[in-house]
Parts: sequence; C-alpha cells; structure tokens
Amino acid sequence: MQDRLKKLEADFNSVFPKNNAELRFFAAPGRVNLIGEHIDYCGGYVFPAALTLDNVVAIKPNGTDKIRMTATDLEYKIYEFDLQNIDAARSLEWGNYQAGTANELLKNGYKLAGCDVLFDGTIPFGSGLSSSASIELVSAIAFASVGSPENEINLVNFALYGQGAENNFCGVSCGIMDQFASAMGKKDNAILLNCETLEYRYIPLKLDGCKIVIANTCKKRSLAESKYNERRSEVDKAFAILSEYLPGKPNLCSITPEEFEQYKDRITDEVIRKRAQHVVYENARVLKSAELLENNDVESFGKLMVEANSSIRDLYEVTGFELDTMVDEALKIDGTVGARMTGAGFGGCTVNIVKSEAVDNFIKTVGENYEKITGRTPQFYVCDIGDGARELTLF
Ligand code: GLA
Repeated sequence: MQDRLKKLEADFNSVFPKNNAELRFFAAPGRVNLIGEHIDYCGGYVFPAALTLDNVVAIKPNGTDKIRMTATDLEYKIYEFDLQNIDAARSLEWGNYQAGTANELLKNGYKLAGCDVLFDGTIPFGSGLSSSASIELVSAIAFASVGSPENEINLVNFALYGQGAENNFCGVSCGIMDQFASAMGKKDNAILLNCETLEYRYIPLKLDGCKIVIANTCKKRSLAESKYNERRSEVDKAFAILSEYLPGKPNLCSITPEEFEQYKDRITDEVIRKRAQHVVYENARVLKSAELLENNDVESFGKLMVEANSSIRDLYEVTGFELDTMVDEALKIDGTVGARMTGAGFGGCTVNIVKSEAVDNFIKTVGENYEKITGRTPQFYVCDIGDGARELTLF
C-alpha cells in the first residue's frame, strides 16, 4: 500500500501542481456477498464481506467551492462540480456517485469544502463487486474529513448517504448492503447484517482449509438497473398481498417459510409468487449460514450456497447464460464446496468456496471450460477479506 500511496502522491502533484495544502489519503473497499441476495431491500439479513480490492483517494482542499476530480484510469482528465449547484452534476459523464454523495452530506448538515481529488480503483467496474459503493464511501469519508474538523465521521451514516446517492441521484433503488459492507467491513470477517434495523455482527471467516474464489464472467451487468427496479416493485406487490393476511409484519423477510406456505396461494400471479418465495427462503438460509460458519461447518454452508443459487436463478431470475455456466462448471470440480452468483446479477461475478489444494485446478479448468462455452475470457481473484472505509497514512 505504501508504494501505491507514494505513486498517488507523485501523480497528484503532477495533476494539481499549484495546490500546496496538506495531502490526505482515504480508502473504501468493494464487497462480496456470501449469501442473502436481493433481500436487503426486503428488510432481510445479508452476509457480505469487504474485499481488499478498493478505491483509494488522494485529496487536498483547494480554497474554492468546486470539487475537481480525476482518476488514474481516466488519463487524468478532470471532471468538476460546484458545491453550490450540485444538481448540475447529474449530467456529468463521470463523477455522479461522488456528486450524489456530496449532496447527501450537505443535506445532512455536513460542511464541505472545495477539493482536488485523485481516485485510484482496483475493483473491476460493473462486475457486481460494488465499485460504485466503494466510490461513494471513499468520497463520503474524504469529503467529510477534509470539509471541516467539526464533521462527525460516522461510517454507518456514510453508508446511508452512499445509498441515498444511488437512490436520489443515480436512479438505482438499491438496498443498503453494499454501502454498509464498504463502510463497516472488517479484516477476515463477514458481516451478518439485519437490513431493517442495521444491527450487525461480525463472524470470523475461518473456512477450514478453503479459499474464497471470485470468478468474473466479464459480462457487464447490462439491463441490471431497469431489471433491478422491476424486481423491487414485484416484491412490493407480493408483500402488499401477504400483508392482508399477515397484518403487522414490517417487511417481506419477516414472513417465515411456514407462514408463506400457508398464504402463498393468495398470490395468484405466479411470477410474483416465485419472487416472494425466493425472498422468504433466502432470508432463512442466511440465518442458517451464519450459524453453520460459526460452527466451522463449511461443507453444509457450501450446500446452502448451491440452494441459494438455484433459487436466485429459477425463482428470482436474475442470472443468465454466463453466470449459470460459471456456476455449473465450478460445481463439476473436485474440491468446490459451494458456488453461486453474487451481487445484483445479469452478469458480474460468482463466489466460490474451494478447497485450498484445488484452487489452481479450479481456476484453470473452470476458466478454460467457461471460455469454450461462452467465448468470453473470465478473470479469477482468490480473495482476501479486508477492512472498511478508513484514512490511510503515508510514512
Ligand atoms: C446490488 C444492490 C444491493 C443488493 C444486491 C443484491 O448489489 O446494490 O443493495 O440488493 O444488488 O443482493
């Protein structure tokens, strides 16, 4: 990390040569969700972990009202927005996650200052590993820290502001999972998060001789946003119907599988019924998974991952040819304990639990077979679980 910060310092000085203020560094990670997909917006439990893939920023106040930003992969082209007129940033070609986050900070009483900012990201964009949440969280902590010493550094609130940026500025009705994981991640731990109350618990990921392998289909999540919003409205409909028979339930995930079985026929639209079935049973699987991992039962957890994948594929229908192929090929390998899609779906990544000694063969064989079948070259990351949003120091 020190080498990366040194390089960023040098780059920053060549892009913003006239700024002599103090340079600070902040980081926020992407995430992988182990299980609990498409239920954060139904008040369910999810089980994500922060990655060591992240966004780091180098930042200095610039004495103006403008946030001027660039990134190491943008050939240092500068994009800017005015803190007095953030709405105009909606049409920015790049930078609306940052502008949306600044907007939420201002709405919540934070004092912000104009800044020069250089972003450096290692999360593949559009891969379902929450590169956007990572940008929102690193922006929140950096803008708030540099804006005024009076600003409160409250990571849970920053997660909510990141979600607010997506919902109110970028037009995606996402839940809280990605931003929460990016804010609150902890090295070598997964987070069991109740998305209704935001209560959470860290669970150490020992994984007993296994590794987490992320497989990127390298199919960008096309249609993800419109289909995502469509799924949300479908589960809202399901909840409205079931609420008539189960009054007082706060959300779809508070309906137990037994209650669902009793009333499911009241949902006459088969598609809506399938969506609700996924949500109710997925929530139960998350709670079981946390218990299994606390007892070091990685094998049984792997079985639940496979069940979860069938549910998200057949009932929630957000996978597709590439994700399905990647999971099918993974499950053929000796030493694969569990495999499933992760994130919003429609492309992006799968998450796999693989016995350590089988990892090399997994990457080689799944990679070759996937490429043969789909014509796309995949990428693999044997992942380390890292910390959430934080300031970094250059020694
Ligand atoms: C995206 C959203 C999350 C969550 C997942 C699906 O990553 O940003 O809020 O809904 O999809 O589990």
